[in-house]
Amino acid sequence: MAAACRCPGVWFGRSKERPSLRHQRRIGGTRLEHLESTSEIVRLRALPKAEVHVHLEGCFEPAVLEQWARHAGVSMPRPRESLLRFSGLADFLHFLDWACGLASTKERLAELSYGFSRRLASSGAGYADLIVNPTHWRAWHGRLAEMIDAIDAGLTAAEQDGLPPVGLCISLLRTQSADAAAELLDGLLALRHPRVVALSIDGNEAAAGRTGPRFAATFRRAGAAGLRRTVHAGESSGPEGVRDAIELLQADRIDHGVRAIEDPELVALLADRQIPLGICPTSNIKLGVYARIEDHPIDRLRRAGVAVSINTDDPELIGASLESEYATCARVFRWSSEDLRALARNSIDASFANTEIKTKLLGALACW
Ligand code: ADE
Ligand code: ZN
Repeated sequence: MAAACRCPGVWFGRSKERPSLRHQRRIGGTRLEHLESTSEIVRLRALPKAEVHVHLEGCFEPAVLEQWARHAGVSMPRPRESLLRFSGLADFLHFLDWACGLASTKERLAELSYGFSRRLASSGAGYADLIVNPTHWRAWHGRLAEMIDAIDAGLTAAEQDGLPPVGLCISLLRTQSADAAAELLDGLLALRHPRVVALSIDGNEAAAGRTGPRFAATFRRAGAAGLRRTVHAGESSGPEGVRDAIELLQADRIDHGVRAIEDPELVALLADRQIPLGICPTSNIKLGVYARIEDHPIDRLRRAGVAVSINTDDPELIGASLESEYATCARVFRWSSEDLRALARNSIDASFANTEIKTKLLGALACW
């Protein structure tokens, strides 16, 4: 079947760049020996897929941050050796404020966005929904339109160079007020930028408390205006956060959602309604949700019929690549090629890509 297949694969367009064979993971800022076999990594790079849970804030290369900080005369938050060693989600989000604060020009934002597309292509993904949370980007506060234009410039240049298409999910922070949420949505609806596909919410639910009711009206309005809705829940909150994401925020997709596993009725609801979870195994370990990959519930959720997909969350900062996330899960949970194909299909189905992109990716997947 595969030999007769004439599908073009997932490599979009004209770019001359090829995926590199390097698949080391960086843990706490240090390159470690790779954990997965090269042939498996190559095979999983070729797996047609989408990425649906990844933040632009998590795509800074540490060397670039160091260079920008030196140039701006800004001190590093901690020594280079421990720059990417995070004590948990609160510490991580604080680091994002520092890092994003350095991206003060249009050129830097465009360059970062272009780099995101390059990374996506090198993992063999044919599309991504990319989360951007304006609260982290100090230099752009009060300039939403300019900020989206700068990101769009990088993503458009990337597409023109044959790199994959990307949709933007503009994100609220859990600790924002209801008024701030309404204001962000008003700004998005005034712009109607074609790059923006969804309203998102991320941040620390443990620090914010129960905020579903606070954001319900804005999420309802976003849906009525034609935006998709994606909600971080069940990472720093338990199953109750996932329930609020479904019932109060009417999430089309849940980012993480893994702690739903603690409530069997909720798992059944996710499976019945086929509400997709964008799961990020390495992130959950690095940020302390689970101690070991073996403890991670992705396989139990999958077996319960939940539409789970595999993602990186904050790839550069936590040292994850999309293909190594697939490879690690496949090794630990003994997934077959058919299981992997189903996971990749979930990622495409769960994405906010248009029908043309989805059809192309699903066609390529059938040939894998
Ligand atoms: N923003 C970036 N990464 C995040 C995560 N893992 N959880 C919540 N907010 C985030
Ligand atoms: Zn996330």
